Amino acid sequence: MADSTKIESHLNEDRKFPPAEAFAKQARIPSMKRYKELYDQSIADPEAFWAAEASELHWQKKWDTVLEWDAPFAKWFVGGKLNVSESCVDHHLQGARKDKKAIIWEGEPGEVRTLTYQELHKEVCRFANALKANGVKVGDRVIIYMPMVPEAAIAMLACARIGAVHSVVFGGFSAESIKDRIEDSGATAVITADGGFRRGGVVALKANVDEALTKVETIQKVIVLERTKNEVAMVEGRDVWWHDAVADVSTDCPAEAFDSEHPLFILYTSGSTGKPKGIMHTSGGYLTGTYATSKYIFDLREDDVYWCTADVGWITGHSYIVYGPLANGASILMYEGAPNWPEPDRFWQLVEKHRATILYTAPTAIRAFIKWGDEHVDKHDLSSLRLLGTVGEPINPEAWMWYHEKIGGGRCPIVDTWWQTETGAIMLTPLPGATPTKPGTATLPFFGVDAAILDEEGNEVGPNEGGKLVIRKPWPSMLRTIYGDEGRYKETYWGEYEGIYLAGDGARRDEDGYFWIVGRLDDVLNVSGHRLGTAEIESALVSHESVAEAAAVGRPDEIKGQGVVAFVTLKEGYDAGPELRDTLRAHVGKVIGAIAKPDVIRFTEALPKTRSGKIMRRLLKEICSGSGAISGDTTTLEDFSVVASLQAGEDE
Ligand code: WT7
Repeated sequence: MADSTKIESHLNEDRKFPPAEAFAKQARIPSMKRYKELYDQSIADPEAFWAAEASELHWQKKWDTVLEWDAPFAKWFVGGKLNVSESCVDHHLQGARKDKKAIIWEGEPGEVRTLTYQELHKEVCRFANALKANGVKVGDRVIIYMPMVPEAAIAMLACARIGAVHSVVFGGFSAESIKDRIEDSGATAVITADGGFRRGGVVALKANVDEALTKVETIQKVIVLERTKNEVAMVEGRDVWWHDAVADVSTDCPAEAFDSEHPLFILYTSGSTGKPKGIMHTSGGYLTGTYATSKYIFDLREDDVYWCTADVGWITGHSYIVYGPLANGASILMYEGAPNWPEPDRFWQLVEKHRATILYTAPTAIRAFIKWGDEHVDKHDLSSLRLLGTVGEPINPEAWMWYHEKIGGGRCPIVDTWWQTETGAIMLTPLPGATPTKPGTATLPFFGVDAAILDEEGNEVGPNEGGKLVIRKPWPSMLRTIYGDEGRYKETYWGEYEGIYLAGDGARRDEDGYFWIVGRLDDVLNVSGHRLGTAEIESALVSHESVAEAAAVGRPDEIKGQGVVAFVTLKEGYDAGPELRDTLRAHVGKVIGAIAKPDVIRFTEALPKTRSGKIMRRLLKEICSGSGAISGDTTTLEDFSVVASLQAGEDE
């Protein structure tokens, strides 16, 4: 682990916002007293808490045992059988919810489509049958590489319905990234679209899939949704149009019961090495976690129009667009495109037009809105909003205040939710009718979540002392393993403290016990709320013929939270210069995706290293943030002149 020996936190924030009385009065958890009571009970007996939540889902066979915990391996609701799509869809077909809107969707060009729960049921069943007809079987891995259209959710639910394991790949990722994920998961089918609309243009999704498939052999079928009508190549026998695949299948697809621990999905995320981790989630526990958190944290009501602006390619989209809200029978708003297309007021136009009541978005988006100017917000009536949320990174207090005042009109509680791809569901959060909020903190643990901050020896630290954020008890939506790499699972999350989950974040608790996240402790950056491993960026750079060695570090960025700076040494015969810089940026975009492109590339003669040859990223980080002064220990540095010349800017 890099740079984790001393974790300091300097942020001082005294403002405190109690929930508005009107909100608290009608809330499920209406006071701190009630939160504390329930929290204490849930920690004394987490199994009782989670079992009560699980019983609100649709089980075909009830479990025998709530939890089997053989650290670090958990099984939840053992012996229970369910079909996740049944709890999310069929479950709502009795009574009034049948004709309730499940999905309200708006495409970037502006068309609107809605699907009631009954219509969603029909589409999920049809597509599930289409998957079966195309050879997809229980346990098969299926890649979903789609734009933000209702069919993305339909594809996920259809996989769940037939017990296939989906692995959604974010539409901004490259062909190379698709290839890696197919290889690692051994997927046999891909669901994609001809393209998706983004900023007025077309993202050519199918073309990326085609390129990926030249390098892998396991894929037998590619199902292609027609969305943008751009020209695509269809490979005979392998590629099928979505509309043809569903043309003559039945709309009846009985929901087969699967074990509670049947895998639901694999979602890849960055870690400390160049290889993304396939985070594995299973069925009953995951659904219980996302269901319960959606219900209490967004305090969902029958007439809510709930909008989570994430892409389904990230865990936020899985848990809080699809599974959690649908298990609650909510109406979800889904938007295909960019927040500033055609104008920077698109989000506020959407809120006004669809009368959204809940908005869940990312700090990086909020910072962009602030930069674009208040006039884009002022044009619209946002009075339908009653609750706001953020996720993905610590929110800076200024952005929080703007969100609170400008978007929330001072009346909406803000839930700053801390969690991870691995945790599956929200872990630290205010409860909107109970918890007084402070700008910049995710406040307190959710029910059943035993969060703490430990020092190197494993002791809990005192108030306002920095340490490592851990979870001490298993929870139902926790990851079960890293797909195909149990060793890495044990080592990454459970290697530091016996039987305790290490989140990888540094944090402190203030005098109220509120958790303040300081940042990652490993070599993982947070760019626009998304995780990027420095090692991934480095290995992408080194895969270019001109590069001898590379080190990537983060630097503060006003909008993205962190930006990427890459230090690169070149092989003999290559000229450093603007042209090669552009080439290398484009190369990283091609290997990983546009999100990983370094903001700055600095060519250097050498990288600062320890005598044992380890690149000292800490020094590079200091060089490119703030004053450029080096504060830490440099005695292990092999050759200080390297640092001196970088500080002097001799590389540029
Ligand atoms: C990492 C997880 C959870 C969905 C989106 C990101 C950071 C996330 C917060 C928050 C401070 C946060 C952490 C965490 N993070 N939410 N509210 N306050 N930091 O999922 O890609 O798995 O990243 O994002 O560093 O470890 P992810």
